[in-house]
Amino acid sequence: MSKLVAPSILAADFANLQRDVEMVNNSEADWFHIDIMDGVFVPNISFGMPVLEAINKHAGKVIDVHLMIVNPDRYIQTFADLGADILTVHYEACTHLHRTLQAIKAAGMRAGVALNPHTNVSLLEDVINDIDLVCVMSVNPGFGGQSFIENTYKKVKQLKEIIADNNASTQIEIDGGVTDQNAKQLVEAGADVLVAGSFVFKSANPLETIKDLRALANK
Ligand code: DX5
Ligand code: ZN
Repeated sequence: MSKLVAPSILAADFANLQRDVEMVNNSEADWFHIDIMDGVFVPNISFGMPVLEAINKHAGKVIDVHLMIVNPDRYIQTFADLGADILTVHYEACTHLHRTLQAIKAAGMRAGVALNPHTNVSLLEDVINDIDLVCVMSVNPGFGGQSFIENTYKKVKQLKEIIADNNASTQIEIDGGVTDQNAKQLVEAGADVLVAGSFVFKSANPLETIKDLRALANK
């Protein structure tokens, strides 16, 4: 299975959003990573439904929505209607995670769970077979452009073991501070999907950066 690259639109130029979405369409990227923040779960507000609707009009690849919001259950159907293919909720925001995962799938999407840097991967053991994607946060969620937390490698290895022990087909996604400096090591630890915001969009040639990152992850 190829390792995937998911550019995070949070780092795009919002005044040239269509241009940046088309760039991702024309690149070797696999998914669009869309960060939704509510200013409550995280200390920042990104963008919401109308912007996702606009992105979806032009996006020609899988839409991976990362909800950094409290009470995500309230918006599951809304995000399905907006075209999300994968809907990821935060472990820390879900009191009834098992129920939330079933609701995401019932709405026709793949179900993801994101873990803050302090949340131990073992907490997912009892629901691992219900999870399509675990998003391991390698920064504290809320902002792009932060530096990668090194403890992530250990978490990814532990998570990979839990997935194998349970014969689960869960994919592991890494989100935050991903660059060409940690991509290879992350894949070696067990990562399947690399989210990259600043590294892609702040680079001189985003198309090339995506291509190189994907090649590095698959070397
Ligand atoms: C952070 C978001 C990330 C962010 C990554 O809360 O979940 O997806 O866009 O940005 P970089 O790659 O710049 O760390
Ligand atoms: Zn994200």
